[in-house]
Amino acid sequence: MRASPTPRSTPAAGAGAKPSDAAGRPARGRRRVALITGASSGIGAAVAVRLAAGGRWDLLLNGRDRDRLGAVADRTGGAALPVDLASPDGCRQLAEAALAHGDRVDALVAAAGLGWAGAYTDMPPAAVDRLVDVNVGAVLHLVRLLLPQMVARGSGSLVLLGSVAGRFGVRGEAVYAATKGALIPFAESLRYELRGTGVRVCLVQPGPVDTPFFAHRHAPYTRSWPRPVPAGRVAAAVEEALTGRRPEITVPRWLGTPGRVQGMAPNLFRRLATRFG
Ligand SMILES: NC(=O)c1ccc[n+]([C@@H]2O[C@H](COP(=O)([O-])OP(=O)(O)OC[C@H]3O[C@@H](n4cnc5c(N)ncnc54)[C@H](OP(=O)(O)O)[C@@H]3O)[C@@H](O)[C@H]2O)c1
Repeated sequence: MRASPTPRSTPAAGAGAKPSDAAGRPARGRRRVALITGASSGIGAAVAVRLAAGGRWDLLLNGRDRDRLGAVADRTGGAALPVDLASPDGCRQLAEAALAHGDRVDALVAAAGLGWAGAYTDMPPAAVDRLVDVNVGAVLHLVRLLLPQMVARGSGSLVLLGSVAGRFGVRGEAVYAATKGALIPFAESLRYELRGTGVRVCLVQPGPVDTPFFAHRHAPYTRSWPRPVPAGRVAAAVEEALTGRRPEITVPRWLGTPGRVQGMAPNLFRRLATRFG
């Protein structure tokens, strides 16, 4: 599906906003513009609701389902920019629409993504492509398209939705884990490259979250542990990522501990993960 990025509702971005300073940074008190992908559902929608409640952001909202995206736009006062991000062309359409509509994009929250669960030998090649295109390709392309104007202004935030699956690897989710794992060195490398530019990069890595993600992948979450957290908890972490300086945030925080064990004692970690799933 390819939808034209026609704004459904008009945010205050650009219209009536205070002008930028000579360096292009928002004038004091001016609301900043955030582009949220995956905003039609789950975590992205929760981020939109949270940022709207704070009143400091003008929101540009991306998803594919026009009805669900429109409902989030109506609730948050954001502008709906429905585009399929499974191709570089879709990413270009969204970036152009976002910059045309909001005049600038101060923050990208890259939350669009999808899963697939089952034995890798059963995974249709088209599903492999879809996960790689959306979970990795769209993030890389959108960052490439939006970063230059952030660097030119000397400020910006990139918040990428990874997953603990990408940190640890998960049985039955090999490709999903690989796509999320790819974001770790991407974010790390960008952080080195962007040092001193005023543009920050944060990787938010949730464990299981109670969203339609599992229904969308047609495979329910069946583990008894860890228990899924509400999407609002991830939205709070994203808000912290946008305003703070942390390079990575794991949700819930205790899920960062297994990662440290894995780093220090990989064989022990592997034995425990095999035993406890
Ligand atoms: N839920 C979890 O347990 C969990 C855990 C760790 C990380 N994450 C990550 O968090 C992010 C959000 O997941 P979620 O839980 O909110 O899942 P979700 O409820 O299924 O939402 C996924 C979002 O991605 C969008 N999307 C999917 N394919 C797209 C495409 N081709 N083009 C544009 N948008 C597309 C969907 O748009 P439409 O519905 O409009 O098509 C939807 O808005 C994902 O990156 C996911 O991998 C989720």
